[in-house]
Amino acid sequence: MSGIVIRKVEREDVEKLHWALTQLSKDIDDDHAADADDLLRHGFGEKPAFFALLAEERIDGAVVGALMASPLFSTTNAGAGLYVSDLWVAASKRGTGLGKRLLAAALETGTADWTVRFLELAVYRDNSKARAFYDRLGFSQFTDEIFLTLKGPALDNLRKTP
Ligand SMILES: CC(C)(COP(=O)(O)OP(=O)(O)OC[C@H]1O[C@@H](n2cnc3c(N)ncnc32)[C@H](O)[C@@H]1OP(=O)(O)O)[C@@H](O)C(=O)NCCC(=O)NCCS
Repeated sequence: MSGIVIRKVEREDVEKLHWALTQLSKDIDDDHAADADDLLRHGFGEKPAFFALLAEERIDGAVVGALMASPLFSTTNAGAGLYVSDLWVAASKRGTGLGKRLLAAALETGTADWTVRFLELAVYRDNSKARAFYDRLGFSQFTDEIFLTLKGPALDNLRKTP
């Protein structure tokens, strides 16, 4: 039996989730604006924007990994998939198969009415270790599409469109 348990995050775990995501941001030197209330509001209401998993030591419940993902639909892939927005494994557990286990567990989580046909995620260009991990799992890079985002004042402008 593995010494690490993976389980879905519930409302009462939100502080633990927030802690794990903070570690991820530190490890990859990312901005971290979201607080625990943001996670509560967006992940645990009637229509959650994401689900999350925690990996914990069986013996004492210490958090050693986390994943956050949201469903999306693709006509190209003829089905539903998951956008993995966050994946983190504690430094002491890296290379033990936990990252792969978290991704595999996500495929089975919150999908009673649909099947995950693909995974999508973004990785920073300078994160060569994570890139090697994704390569090893068989992820491939979009070559003919460019990843775009709209936020801040540009998004506010769009929202004002009558
Ligand atoms: C990236 C990360 C999630 C990978 O998780 P992990 O638990 O270390 O990876 P695993 O042990 O599950 O590895 C799965 C496979 O990938 C390979 N792999 C993992 N890291 C690798 C690396 N740096 N180089 C080459 N292969 C690697 C493993 O050897 C394993 O291969 P196998 O199945 O043939 O044995 C983890 O290292 C991490 O949290 N890094 C810091 C945060 C981060 O960068 N997150 C991703 C942001 S996009």
